[in-house]
Amino acid sequence: MNLAELIMDRRSIRKCNAKPVEQELVVELLIDAASLQPSLKDGAWRVVYAGTPESSKRLVDYMLAQMAESKLGKWIPGKLLDVLKKRFTDIPAHVIVLSAKGQDRLTSDRNYAAVCGMMQSFQLLGWERGLGMIWDTESIIQHESFFEGVGKREDERFVGILHLGYFDKAPRGRKRTPAERKWTILQGSA
Ligand SMILES: Cc1cc2nc3c(=O)[nH]c(=O)nc-3n(C[C@H](O)[C@H](O)[C@H](O)COP(=O)(O)O)c2cc1C
Repeated sequence: MNLAELIMDRRSIRKCNAKPVEQELVVELLIDAASLQPSLKDGAWRVVYAGTPESSKRLVDYMLAQMAESKLGKWIPGKLLDVLKKRFTDIPAHVIVLSAKGQDRLTSDRNYAAVCGMMQSFQLLGWERGLGMIWDTESIIQHESFFEGVGKREDERFVGILHLGYFDKAPRGRKRTPAERKWTILQGSA
């Protein structure tokens, strides 16, 4: 598959099968993805990995803690919360990605942007190996008990969780906005 095809064919995978994800593969893909991002400095990122049923369960408890405790949670039937928990717990592996804030806002933004680039390369390299994933930044998971649970430090930003799994069928892609509609020519004379 050539690069343009790979970029266009990759899809977010929201429904994966039960085939286990090898930790060695995840490490290999992270190393390769990081090496494709020259602006990514060594200390600019780290990941927390959940790749066993026990650690997945713990992670999902952290993810859904706010929902379970909130007013909204009280209105959600227990069964629905259990269904949601099971949906995430059944996913074989999860990569929580953190970027370093650094000395100032600009450094923090640069690190964050470089880490996002690395994550996209990771998604593409995974796709090449048949590994699907969904990048999760849902607001409901972004709360103190989740950050504490995964060990995010004060000097770090949460970039997202990549939920990983093999899949039986890839979804169809959505229509994209043509680039011309995002295009403005800056007027002016030399
Ligand atoms: C920075 C970023 C954050 C995302 N956060 C979420 C999310 O919180 N929930 C979700 O369902 N998908 C999330 N996604 C996945 C997008 O919804 C998905 O990429 C988009 O629907 C396009 O689909 P595709 O990846 O198949 O091309 C995120 C993607 C990116 C790049």
